[in-house]
Amino acid sequence: MSDATLSTRRAGSRGYTTCGELRSGDVGRIVTLKGWVHRRRDHGGLIFLDLRDRYGITQVVANPAHSPEAHATAERIRAEYVLAVTGRVVARPEGTVNPALPTGEIEVVAERIEILNPAKTPPFPIAEETDVDESLRLEYRYLDLRRARLQRNLLLRHQVVRFVRQYLEERDFVEIETPMLIKSTPEGARDYVVPSRIFPGHFYALPQSPQQLKQLLMVAGFDRYYQIARCMRDEDLRADRQPEFTQIDLEMSFVDVEDILELVEGLYTELFERFATKPLQRKPFPRLSYAEAMLRYGSDKPDLRFGLEIQDVSDVFASTGFGVFKSALAAGGVVRGFAVPGYAEATRSQLDQLTELARTFGAKGLVWLALQREDGGLTARSPVAKFLSDTEIATLAERFGAGPGDLLLLVADVESVAANVLGRLRLQVARDRKLVDESVHAFCWVLDPPLFEWNDEERRWEAMHHPFTSPRDEDVPLLDSDPVRVRAKAYDLVADGYELGTGSIRIHRREIQNKIFAIMGYDDAEIERRFGHLLRAFEYGAPPHGGMAPGLDRTVMILAGESSLREVIAFPKNQRAQDLMLGAPSPLDERQLRELHLRIVYPEEEELAKS
Ligand code: AMO
Ligand code: AMP
Repeated sequence: MSDATLSTRRAGSRGYTTCGELRSGDVGRIVTLKGWVHRRRDHGGLIFLDLRDRYGITQVVANPAHSPEAHATAERIRAEYVLAVTGRVVARPEGTVNPALPTGEIEVVAERIEILNPAKTPPFPIAEETDVDESLRLEYRYLDLRRARLQRNLLLRHQVVRFVRQYLEERDFVEIETPMLIKSTPEGARDYVVPSRIFPGHFYALPQSPQQLKQLLMVAGFDRYYQIARCMRDEDLRADRQPEFTQIDLEMSFVDVEDILELVEGLYTELFERFATKPLQRKPFPRLSYAEAMLRYGSDKPDLRFGLEIQDVSDVFASTGFGVFKSALAAGGVVRGFAVPGYAEATRSQLDQLTELARTFGAKGLVWLALQREDGGLTARSPVAKFLSDTEIATLAERFGAGPGDLLLLVADVESVAANVLGRLRLQVARDRKLVDESVHAFCWVLDPPLFEWNDEERRWEAMHHPFTSPRDEDVPLLDSDPVRVRAKAYDLVADGYELGTGSIRIHRREIQNKIFAIMGYDDAEIERRFGHLLRAFEYGAPPHGGMAPGLDRTVMILAGESSLREVIAFPKNQRAQDLMLGAPSPLDERQLRELHLRIVYPEEEELAKS
C-alpha cells in the first residue's frame, strides 16, 4: 500500500509539522510538532520523547544543557500527554539512526515544550501491540483507535472507499443517498424499528439494504446508481456480521448478468491488486454453478485456497453390504466424502474427534478409512472395514485419487445434510492440517442458485435471494410445474471462503412477479401491503435492471488480513449488539416513552399477569 498515512501535504500548509514528515534534508530547520507522547525514556540527563500523530513518530530530545525549561517540563510528562514541541531538527548521532522509522535519521532538540493537555494513564498500553481484552478495547474505543493496528485499518478503509468511488464514477455511476427511516424490506433478517411520535402504534423500519429504493431509482431513469450504503439488520451476530454494516450498493439498467459480473470483477481485481498484500490466486475469477459449489465444496461460499474436494460416491455402494450406506441410499440419500492426503496416520482420538464434530454438524456418523498397503495390496484401517469389499475400497481410492497413507472421510445422508456436514468438515480439517494457502486471495463467482427454497417450518416456498430476483429465462416454464428446479439470475462473489457480495437481475415484468408471489403463497392483500409501492412504480415503465451489493466491511477485513469485522469498523458493536463505549442500547425515560406512545412490558410482568 502506498503512503498509508495519507499525507499529501508538505510542511507549512498546516502551520506545524507532522510527526511523520521530517527527513535528513530538514536538518537545521526550526519546527513545531504537535502530537501525543508515545513513549518517554529518561536517560538520566537526557529525556527522549517519541511524539506520535497519525502520520508517524518523531523523536524529541530534552537536554538540560540546551534548554533547562524544556527539560523540566519533560520531567513531568507521561505517556499520551498532548504536546506542542518547538526545536531544531538535527541529524541523529552516529549509531543511533533508527532504520525502522521513516523519521529515524533525525531528531528534534526541544527548545520549548508546551503541555496542551495531560492524560490519565490509559487502561491499556497504546504504544505496544499487546493483546487486550476486547470489551475493554470497545469501551475505550477512542484509545484503541489510537493504536497502530486500527489506525492502519481505518486508513485502508478510507482508501478503499475512495478507490471504489473513483472506479464507479469513471463508469458513469451516480451516488444517491436513500433514507434511513423507511418501511420494512424483505431481506430476510429482523428489522430495527423506530416508533413514530405522530402516528401512535406506527413504526419506521431502518433499511436492511436500499434494495427497493435502488430499484425505484432505475424506474426514475438513474441508470447507474451506487451508494456507500449503511444497512441495519437485527440478526444473530458472528465475527463476519455486524448489526450495522456498509454495502457498496449498486444497480444498473439495461444489463444482464454478464455486465454486472464484468463490472464487479474489474473493481475487485483492481482493488486487490492495489491494496492487498497477497496476489490473486486466479484471474479471471473461476465460476462455479451453485449446484457445483454445493457438490464439490459443500458450501455456497467455497474456500478455494485448498483442495479436499468432495465427491459423490453413491454409485460405488449401489449394491453394498454395509447396512449404514445401504439404508441411506435406499432412503434416497447419498454417500459423499473427501480424501485427506497423508492423514492415514491420524490417531484414534483424532478420528473420534472428527466423528464427534461431524455429529455436531448434523451427521448421523462418519466413516473413516485409513488407506494402507498390506501384503502388496491396498487395505483400509476402519471400524467398518469388515463390511466393505476390496473392490469398494479400491474403487473409492481410485475415485479420490488416493493411496496408502491417505485418509478417506465419508458421510451418508440426505443430500443437503451430507453436503453441509462435509463442507464444514472440509474447512475444519484444512485449518487443523494447515492446508489453507495463506499466500493468495482466492475469488470465485457462484452462479445460478435456486430461485426458491422450501421453508419447512412455515410449509411454503421462500425466495432464496429476494422476491424480486428474476428466474433464468429457460427455467420460466418450470415455475408452474417444478419450482424447486427454477434457477435464479443471481450471483455471489466469494473470497477466501467469505460471501463478499450478492446480487441479481430483477424482475421488471408484472406477470412474472405475480407468479412468484403466488408460488410464495402471498395473497393480493399481502402483496399490496408489502410491495404495492414497488409494483405500482413498475407499471410506469420499469427498465430491465439488476445490481449487486458487495459488503464493504468484509472487503476491508479481508484486505487487512483480519478475521473480525470489528477490526475494520471505527465504532462496532459487540456480539450482543451493544455499543460498550456509548452504553447503547439504553432505557428511555418515562416522558420519551409516553411521547412515543410506548409502554414497556417486561418479561417478568408478563409472567405475573399470566399467573
Ligand atoms: P445481501 O443481504 O446478500 O444482499 O447482502 C449483501 C452483502 O452485504 C454484506 N452483509 C453484511 N456484512 C456485515 N454484517 C452483516 N450483518 C451483513 N449482512 C450482509 C455481505 C453480503 O454479501 N440488496 C441485496 C443485494 C442486491 O441484490 O443488490 C442485499 O442486501 O458482504
Ligand atoms: P452405527 O451403526 O451407528 O454404530 O455406525 C457404524 C459406523 O458408521 C460408525 O463408525 C458411525 O460413525 C458410522 N456411521 C453411522 N451413520 C453414518 C452415516 N449416516 N454416514 C456416515 N457414517 C455413519
